[in-house]
Amino acid sequence: MTHEVRVELGDRSYDIIIGPDAPGRLVDVLGARRRVVIVTQTAIEPHASPLRVALDDAEIEHDIVTIDDGEDAKSLTTVDRLCRSFAQRGVLRGDAVVALGGGVVGDTAGFAAAVYHRGIAVVQAPTTLLAMVDSAIGGKTAVNLPEGKNLVGAFHQPIAVIADTTALATLPDRELRSGLGEVVKYALMGDEVLLDVCTRQSAALLARDSSVLDVVISRSAAIKAGYVSADEHERTGLRAHLNYGHTLAHAIETVGDHALTHGEAVAVGLVFAGALGAALERISPADAERHRELVAGLGLPVEVPPGARREDLVAVMRRDKKAVGGLTFVLRGANGLERADDPPPLALEAAFAAVGVRD
Ligand SMILES: NC(=O)c1ccc[n+]([C@@H]2O[C@H](COP(=O)([O-])OP(=O)(O)OC[C@H]3O[C@@H](n4cnc5c(N)ncnc54)[C@H](O)[C@@H]3O)[C@@H](O)[C@H]2O)c1
Repeated sequence: MTHEVRVELGDRSYDIIIGPDAPGRLVDVLGARRRVVIVTQTAIEPHASPLRVALDDAEIEHDIVTIDDGEDAKSLTTVDRLCRSFAQRGVLRGDAVVALGGGVVGDTAGFAAAVYHRGIAVVQAPTTLLAMVDSAIGGKTAVNLPEGKNLVGAFHQPIAVIADTTALATLPDRELRSGLGEVVKYALMGDEVLLDVCTRQSAALLARDSSVLDVVISRSAAIKAGYVSADEHERTGLRAHLNYGHTLAHAIETVGDHALTHGEAVAVGLVFAGALGAALERISPADAERHRELVAGLGLPVEVPPGARREDLVAVMRRDKKAVGGLTFVLRGANGLERADDPPPLALEAAFAAVGVRD
């Protein structure tokens, strides 16, 4: 069964196609484009087969390029290598890149497509749960600098997102849980359906029950698509709500040198955001406790790994793209999600203590 979710962006609107038959739709979404470069990683390459079969059947020329694994590969060096390999293959403005992989491939190949020839078409073909529910949707592409994550990037919407859910069968357990970190975020942002699934069907989710995963992926994609359609370039503050839990998460990733995956860091960030919301009396202590229970129930971490010091985390949070010198969070409250600036030190201390950071 294939689900489709539309990202409404006027003449740049596109579909997120979710299900085992999604790769068969690649040729449709390519339109008149006759040449494709698939960018992926070695471990994921087998998942290119259904895409290649579809391209062969339609006699569309295609080639494959691999990039390294891990956050270090999300670099300008990789972008340079990719753009050069596009040029060596004679890729032109009317051709397309297919980014087949998780967020690392999607962000890096997406950024290369955004800048090569001042922008060529990209199809995002996510193979991790995290990419299917989040990173492949919405056109944010970026690579890292030694000074911080995602510091060089561009908005470059894909022409389609093709999420072949059969790819999830080979995903390591830890990466599956990492994707659930973003799913819990949508649940805690206030989605009752995801809240119910995360609460009552955690075992089925962790066992990769395909019908439950289908619900989770299509629901999450629809939530993300709604925010992207409403505030594509993060100008009204609405899209920034998707950063619930992310202020601390990004700091954990930077300070901890990526010992936690992105979704794991988001999970801890959600526990922190719940505790901070409770300390500021924006939400009830019971609600904050629910953040922790949901995260723990999905086998995700609830504490910052030992060794990360509060002052280092705070220093990184001050450099957050949303912050203007001070500390900025997205928190829940009586009016739903809102931006909250510079919480008092005692509230911060309580929130840090809730995630195991005491000095
Ligand atoms: N652009 C955005 O809006 C956005 C949003 C959230 C996160 N991100 C970024 O996404 C990245 C994290 O993405 P991720 O969690 O997908 O990690 P990832 O891309 O590093 O993938 C995790 C690991 O799983 C492997 N893998 C991928 N698919 C597989 C499959 N089907 N079977 C077996 N192995 C597979 C990868 O090779 C990698 O080793 C971070 O860099 C983060 O900053 C971007």
